[in-house]
Amino acid sequence: MKVIMAESYEDMSRRVAEIIASQISCKPKSVLGFATGSTPCGSYGELIRMYNEGKISFEDIIAFNLDEYCGLDGNDMESYHYFMKKNLFEFVNIQEKNIHIPNGRCKDIENECINYEKKIEEAGSIDLQLLGIGENGHIGFNEPDVKFEAHTHLVTLEEKTLKANSKFFNSYEEVPKTAISMGIKTIMNAKKILLLGSGEKKAEVLNKMIYGEITPNLPASILQLHSDVSIIVDKEAGKLLKKQV
Ligand code: PGA
Repeated sequence: MKVIMAESYEDMSRRVAEIIASQISCKPKSVLGFATGSTPCGSYGELIRMYNEGKISFEDIIAFNLDEYCGLDGNDMESYHYFMKKNLFEFVNIQEKNIHIPNGRCKDIENECINYEKKIEEAGSIDLQLLGIGENGHIGFNEPDVKFEAHTHLVTLEEKTLKANSKFFNSYEEVPKTAISMGIKTIMNAKKILLLGSGEKKAEVLNKMIYGEITPNLPASILQLHSDVSIIVDKEAGKLLKKQV
């Protein structure tokens, strides 16, 4: 694992955007795995800036998002469909047909999960997967006590996650209790992984994830076994980390 220490959130966001931009430049038809949450917002802002400056084009990229809440429609402001639209997709030239996010309102969840995996496979697997990390060590919505072998599946969210994500809703009660998430196996199949961490609240979990034991109780710890993982942190999130592992 490579650990990159950024000076600040802005510096982290700029570096992440540069890595994504270089991926797109080297392979315009890249399959990119996107993440939601507060951490990647700055990186998406940087990507929009680079796009407006004519430095990158999203015309041929294929996007797959990590997860979506069950029960929310794409037009619900708290849905991840809406998040991606308002934080990135609406402002760049990505083609609608190339955007993939699990359908949280599907009638048959099992079928939706199988089809999502199929689409990733047909696209030729994910070239670069962006990840945030939960304070409980989740990646995507893969909560502790995870099954490492799982593909895209239905997940029940932990109370810690519901609390952390209630910042995006009017109240805690409104946060959906279940979601569809890429599984650990899906994430581990990505060719490259870029995990972002920002803020002191993530310092401890990042330390455990990188130097601690690999355990289903800390889902992100499995990334120690992936051959191409970069972790980019700001000063606060990286305060317990050494530079290179
Ligand atoms: P955050 O969420 O970026 O809002 O901290 C990260 C995550 O839960 O994966």
